[in-house]
Amino acid sequence: MPNAENNKKKLFIKTWGCQMNVYDSRRMADILRPFGYEVSEEPEDADMMILNTCHIREKATDKVFSELGRMRRLKDKKEAEGGQMLMAVAGCVAQAEGDFIIERAPYVDLVFGPQTYHELPEMIAKLTGAYGQDRIVSTELDTQTKFDALPEENNKQGVTAFLSVQEGCDKFCTFCVVPYTRGGEFSRSVEQIVNEAKALIDNGAREITLLGQNVNAYHGEGKDGKTWTLPLLIEELAKLDGLDRIRYTTSHPRDMDMALIEAHRDIEKLMPYLHLPIQSGSNKILKAMNRKHERDMYLDIIADLRKARPDIAMSGDFIVGFPGETDQDFEDTMDIVRQVKYASGYSFKYSARPGTPAANMTNLVREDVKAERLAALQNLINEYQLDFNTKCIGMTMPVLFDRADKAGDKLHGRTAYNQAIHVPGPARLMGHSANVIITGAFANSLTGTLELQESVLKSA
Ligand code: 5AD
Ligand code: SF4
Repeated sequence: MPNAENNKKKLFIKTWGCQMNVYDSRRMADILRPFGYEVSEEPEDADMMILNTCHIREKATDKVFSELGRMRRLKDKKEAEGGQMLMAVAGCVAQAEGDFIIERAPYVDLVFGPQTYHELPEMIAKLTGAYGQDRIVSTELDTQTKFDALPEENNKQGVTAFLSVQEGCDKFCTFCVVPYTRGGEFSRSVEQIVNEAKALIDNGAREITLLGQNVNAYHGEGKDGKTWTLPLLIEELAKLDGLDRIRYTTSHPRDMDMALIEAHRDIEKLMPYLHLPIQSGSNKILKAMNRKHERDMYLDIIADLRKARPDIAMSGDFIVGFPGETDQDFEDTMDIVRQVKYASGYSFKYSARPGTPAANMTNLVREDVKAERLAALQNLINEYQLDFNTKCIGMTMPVLFDRADKAGDKLHGRTAYNQAIHVPGPARLMGHSANVIITGAFANSLTGTLELQESVLKSA
């Protein structure tokens, strides 16, 4: 391993998209740290620049090219001064458009997908070393080797941490690029996950969110050599001292089995919050989306979840304007929101992603109709969000504090229902849970005061 101390280099990573990309960016930094690369918040003068991209929605490639154009000026400047800046494009746009990027942006040195970043040191060596290779595109989709090759988690993520347990997707919803950019489903072993969780806890994590594109399809090798599903993994992680809270995201309704639903009843550390996308409330559109479930199945799952854990807060994703969506189909989506009464929700205008089956569909919805539907849906979701938050006023809830403001007298934390909350209190409560009386509610956050301020302070 090279001597990191003698050869410090500046690494700038810009990340777009989902938590999975945030996780990947951190792991890229982990891989490069032993080679002398230190993460910098500023792109100027970087020795290596990585744009970790997202391909899920519209204009993804355009955004990458305009950012590349900006960054290129920094590279030109550095090279004019006799330096070198390696420019890399990573993530899902890299996976989907690798050759196009290399062709259109001749200043890009390296393009690699989400499943090959563990080979970064070799790729850099090829570019800069004796091989003198000009440019590299690395977009294999074999996930099997990546996690084995990653170094131990050694990055301080703080009080709330993310841990990737599953990657890829076999569901092939007709609008979605994920099965093409991230590849098929793959689950890490329980042992590997538990070890990473322990390292995170040693570094101060009290809450861990298990990540996966289809996390509840998890089927990794268990401690007994058999295949374990997500509830078994959660049960195992719940045994870890020092870990207070477990969450998981993102789930597919089809993989929401009874054992997982009952885990919400039985495992205290599993938080009463679930992000469960439905995408549309219309059976006709669900079928065209190849979602493999109907609206009633989704509502039944939520009824079972609420039986198991009556206070569970629900969140979802919705797409408006999928090809063929009529006013009535859209009304069916609005009706789902009314029935489920989401505590939070994310809605998007459908955009055709090249290479997906829906991109060839006809009967497109006009842009102005999509925009109207999106606004109406977002208003409705906001109403329920605000309603959920308002109902919390006067309640006392445990809050896990994960950030303090600069002055050190205000704290930011999360309730069990994943609501952001601001509370006056001393910075020393960071990383601790304390009971908070909820005093105010907004659409996206709460305010509150510490319940037993004095006694909590003494014990903290
Ligand atoms: N158009 C609009 N939204 C999309 N999503 C995924 N693909 C598309 C697309 N082609 C949304 C889905 C998914 C979320 C991460 O992004 O709602 O759950
Ligand atoms: Fe995409 Fe559907 Fe897989 Fe989710 S379940 S990642 S929307 S294909």
